[in-house]
Amino acid sequence: MPSLRELGLGVIAIANRKGGVGKTASAISIGAGLAKIGQRVLLVDGDPQANMSLFFAESGIGRSDFSNLLNDLAAGKKVSPESYTRKRVRRGLDLLAAGDPKLRFRFPEEGLKALIKPLFDFFTSVRTKYNWVIIDTSPSHGPLERLLLSASEALVVPLEFQRFSVAGLETLVSDAAEFSREQGRNIRLHALLFTKAENNLSRVDAYREVFSAFRVPVFEICRSEYIPRGLERSRTIWESAPRSYAARDYGRIIEKAFLE
Ligand SMILES: Nc1ncnc2c1ncn2[C@@H]1O[C@H](COP(=O)(O)OP(=O)(O)OP(=O)(O)O)[C@@H](O)[C@H]1O
Ligand SMILES: [Mg+2]
Repeated sequence: MPSLRELGLGVIAIANRKGGVGKTASAISIGAGLAKIGQRVLLVDGDPQANMSLFFAESGIGRSDFSNLLNDLAAGKKVSPESYTRKRVRRGLDLLAAGDPKLRFRFPEEGLKALIKPLFDFFTSVRTKYNWVIIDTSPSHGPLERLLLSASEALVVPLEFQRFSVAGLETLVSDAAEFSREQGRNIRLHALLFTKAENNLSRVDAYREVFSAFRVPVFEICRSEYIPRGLERSRTIWESAPRSYAARDYGRIIEKAFLE
């Protein structure tokens, strides 16, 4: 598979409408893993529930954050990334924190739609400073998610091995196609990440086969207690268990899907 770097794509949304599949864990692990090897990364918390911001102890409310960025873009202001981001939440890693938990109710649907182009321009312009913009998204399916997916260049989709994931993935594929058409550029469905993978499950092979029909490279992240424990304690997998299988799996994704 060509890597994102080879393809020149750097604005990546971690997306799945299904909740609890490991979007936030993956955004943090991949972002921090890229930063660890010297890449400059901006993590964007696009989920008003702000799990990722809380992980980095940045509640955001009342300070510059993603919702302020959207307000300023909507007002047509000239925006510079310095005014919105928290610097060095880890070495090489900056954060655009979530902010207003009621963001969804502040903007009418049309308002968020009108922000797609300005937000995409913002993300692509900050890439002079960052190699990667990694966006954590919420499990909802609404105008905010449409905005975030449409303003990205590629999608990475964490999933669990479940019957229902197939239907969810079909919807995501059709969303990506629809948003690509609307934006007049391809929003690439780049990789599927099977999180919480357990090799002793016989059905895993059956699912691998089903998902191979989507022709998107599939990676697995083993089920690991280090992930929930790390999320609780604000420690990335690279800090808490760099030699664990989960770290190995995330390392492989970073290498193959992002950098190679
Ligand atoms: N590889 C893994 N092994 C074990 N547990 C995991 C793994 N990945 C994620 N989890 C756990 O699954 C739960 C959900 O993870 P996470 O919050 O990253 O999902 P999410 O998709 O961001 O959820 P939401 O849709 O609510 O935003 C957490 O408790 C997390 O610790
Ligand atoms: Mg999440």
